[in-house]
Amino acid sequence: MGSIRVRVFALFVIVLIVAALAAARQSPRSSRPPAATPQETEVSSNASRMMDEGRRAFRYDTFGDEAFWGDTLKLHNAIAGAQHGGVGPGVSPKTALSVGLKVDMDAVPAAVAAGIRAGTVNLDDPANTLALLKANAVVGVTGRFNGDRLQSIGIQCAFCHSTVDDAFMPGIGHRLDGYANRDLNVGAIVSLAPDLSAYTKLLGVDAATVKKVLASWGPGKFDAELNLDGKAFRPDGKPAATLIPPAYGLAGVNLHTWTGGWGNVTYWNAYVANLEMQGRGNFWDPRLMNPKQYPVAAKAGFGNKRSNPDMVTAKLAALQFYQLAIPAPKPKAGSFDSAAAGRGQGIFGSKAKCATCHVPPLFTEPGWNVHKPSEIGIDDFQSERSPDHTYRTAPLRALMTHAKGGFYHDGRFADLRAVVDHYDGFLKLGLSDAEKRDVIEYLKSL
Ligand code: HEC
Ligand code: HEC
Repeated sequence: MGSIRVRVFALFVIVLIVAALAAARQSPRSSRPPAATPQETEVSSNASRMMDEGRRAFRYDTFGDEAFWGDTLKLHNAIAGAQHGGVGPGVSPKTALSVGLKVDMDAVPAAVAAGIRAGTVNLDDPANTLALLKANAVVGVTGRFNGDRLQSIGIQCAFCHSTVDDAFMPGIGHRLDGYANRDLNVGAIVSLAPDLSAYTKLLGVDAATVKKVLASWGPGKFDAELNLDGKAFRPDGKPAATLIPPAYGLAGVNLHTWTGGWGNVTYWNAYVANLEMQGRGNFWDPRLMNPKQYPVAAKAGFGNKRSNPDMVTAKLAALQFYQLAIPAPKPKAGSFDSAAAGRGQGIFGSKAKCATCHVPPLFTEPGWNVHKPSEIGIDDFQSERSPDHTYRTAPLRALMTHAKGGFYHDGRFADLRAVVDHYDGFLKLGLSDAEKRDVIEYLKSL
């Protein structure tokens, strides 16, 4: 008897809950979101417009930099080769892939893709590099053609800050914007240029020296301050170039680049578009007029660049918006040990002191996120090249997408174990071997 009564009562309660839920669903307040106000509609359409424009700029805009990569360096002639109106042997698709250039499979014409699959498209023939360029399928590089003749070439942000997922074959796949291209050998590519006089003049050295510097960088590295201070090598003789960082997961992060004090994303975008890619734009930074810290820039007048027309400034807003919208990719399930990562999280926030600087969930400081070299136990060569003389607390998301080339600005730590060992010694943390392993699994999980 008793148990039947309990069941009837339970049924009654369930009926009541279902009725209440149905009523709630029908009530006007929760039935559908209230109609957007005119301003909300405007904000949403602005956001989607900025997204599209920003993505386009990031992937395809050269900001007029063909004037440098084509007209000045004449890189297009080296790519085309003598057989196609250029100079030298030309650059085959195989060579292009070997120096880390990536191909966007969604832009490869179907017939070419089928030919590559069937082995009938000769990847040793520079003519096929031209075909890929003509299809706008080389990530971050745009060829300007007159008929079949390559006339000039420009580069985009995606050159260094995008890669592909290798879905078609290694080096050919769908675009992955914001990922650091750690395969890209910028130095080797620039070195192909038939005319390096722009660099020899700027730096006041001969072509052999420029080539030696370019050769010192290696894959995944570039020197974004060489054009300011002319410092090509560190005092210990190692190259001054830094690793290409990812350009995703940056929303909420205040200061950007490895070293501190340059500014935020939009500062750096204007800097790179104008002074590294050599796009045609306007740029203003009186700090670059300091001849002591930046002799090359001060002499060249980089602190106040004016171009007519200005092909950069109008794109900065959308470009920044797009980058801030690119999330850091989530590590794949199974790519780390989650039980260990759970333990590592606790250690990261307590005994290991990591979270004092790498504050979750940004993993950099909310605020002025930089430190003196002495606070992280490394030398001051690179920090001295920045206006603030500091290193920026690197946001730690998706570390394993850019493990190639190592960690820290110059890749001095080959893997995460080396990073954790460094902190353990420098900060006298006294971490056990097991604790270090747990922290590493946590880092891999971010
Ligand atoms: C030739 C390679 C190259 C190109 C092209 C390039 N970058 Fe970079 N980018 C770098 C390197 C190297 C750094 C690190 C510079 C440093 O710390 O001194 C960097 C840093 C950055 C950062 C800072 C990331 C962070 O973690 O704070 C952002 C954002 C960025 N680049 C965006 C862009 C955009 C947008 C463009 C196009 C306008 C662009 N880059 C073009 C190589 C490149
Ligand atoms: C005093 C502040 C501070 C503390 C404490 C700190 N870090 Fe860092 N961390 C930094 C800075 C600054 C950098 C950038 C170094 C550079 O640019 O070379 C960095 C870089 C890193 C990197 C390399 C990121 C990359 O993209 O190459 C990792 C990994 C890292 N820290 C992990 C940790 C761990 C784990 C701990 C705790 C054991 C920790 N950090 C403690 C400030 C700190």
